[in-house]
Amino acid sequence: MNFRLFPFVVSALLPFLTPTIAASADTKEKAAAVSEEDGKFYDSEGTPTFKIENGTVDWYTFSGYRRYHSDCHVCHGPDGVGSSYAPALAESMKTMDYPTFLSIVAEGRQNVGGGRENVMPAFGDNKNVYCYLDDIYIYLRARAVDAAPRGRPPNKADKPQAAKDYEASCMGG
Ligand code: HEC
Repeated sequence: MNFRLFPFVVSALLPFLTPTIAASADTKEKAAAVSEEDGKFYDSEGTPTFKIENGTVDWYTFSGYRRYHSDCHVCHGPDGVGSSYAPALAESMKTMDYPTFLSIVAEGRQNVGGGRENVMPAFGDNKNVYCYLDDIYIYLRARAVDAAPRGRPPNKADKPQAAKDYEASCMGG
């Protein structure tokens, strides 16, 4: 190893060495879509993921972009880049697994350490969020592994019938 690089290597590795973070970093390879069900894509572990080809995003990535910018952006900044109030989710999602994401968004979280008191609200009873949790997850995952650039995706797939059905039952139920 080149020892002058050592401090950088250690700090780059720190997130993976921290025992509280069980999941290893997400990558484009891990996030690759290997299966599809009605226009929704899944990685090799069956976790929802994006599919982006020649700048055209799948419906859920696009929907997640929209939902993120209506309900999360005010605190977490545009495109998941963070703000002085709330963390950059495009970074957080590099190491956060799907169940952890779902539970934080549903239940919220409060950081009362260090004299700061920043509150992540619970969205578990907000249909505009929980009916689109996978969409938001998929969008942020694409941002985290650098598969989606900043800004509104220029092209998107049509809305699948399954998404229309799910939305109707979730919003109506
Ligand atoms: C009112 C401001 C606010 C809104 C709106 C908000 N958040 Fe948060 N969120 C926060 C704060 C503050 C934290 C950090 C809490 C902490 O440190 O424990 C946070 C933390 C998180 C985390 C954990 C990040 C990490 O690195 O551990 C996730 C995931 C998250 N928010 C997702 C969302 C999503 C998805 C939405 C939109 C549906 C959203 N948030 C909307 C303020 C907000």
